[in-house]
Amino acid sequence: MDRLIHELDRVLRAIAGIANASRPSPAESNAEAALDEKERAHAAALMRVNHVGEICAQALYQGQALTARNARAKAALEQAAREEEDHLAWSADRIRELGGRPSLLNPFWYAGSLAIGALAGALGDRWNLAFLAETEHQVEEHLTGHLEALPAKDQRTRAVVEAMRRDEAKHRASALRLGAAELPEPAKAAMRLASKVMTTVAYRL
Ligand SMILES: [Fe+2]
Ligand SMILES: [Fe+2]
Repeated sequence: MDRLIHELDRVLRAIAGIANASRPSPAESNAEAALDEKERAHAAALMRVNHVGEICAQALYQGQALTARNARAKAALEQAAREEEDHLAWSADRIRELGGRPSLLNPFWYAGSLAIGALAGALGDRWNLAFLAETEHQVEEHLTGHLEALPAKDQRTRAVVEAMRRDEAKHRASALRLGAAELPEPAKAAMRLASKVMTTVAYRL
């Protein structure tokens, strides 16, 4: 029962964009840059996309942790999920600082990702981890793209994105260490397509 309440609390906080960071935001060590209206709106929209990505990460990790069988895999999933919670909090804070707002579709993104995570979990640990490793890999690539798209002087946002990218690389490495299989190409392509839809929509809504 306690576990259920704890999970439910996490779900509601994830959807509402209220997360508790266990590490201070990397933005804090950088001064606010003088951004014009357009740069601010662009940076806020990119951070909204990243925030949605982190909502999805919460849901994926929850779905997978619910179904993971191996205790080591479970522990690694939980550790990564805690770091994803930092990402969630950092990106929400940065959206606020930039004067933006989180995605209106967060409950929808969350529900979809939870279903996918549970499905991946049901296929067994090797595939569960394979899916995770590929997700982290795609997120890492995506964050690299954001570093190119963000205003060069927006050091506060960039610091957050860089720190997230480092964590995602670590998450991928740990999934591989735990014995992730290699996903077939069509599965990777389908994931790319789904993420393209999500990022395009979340940039606007
Ligand atoms: Fe993340
Ligand atoms: Fe991650």
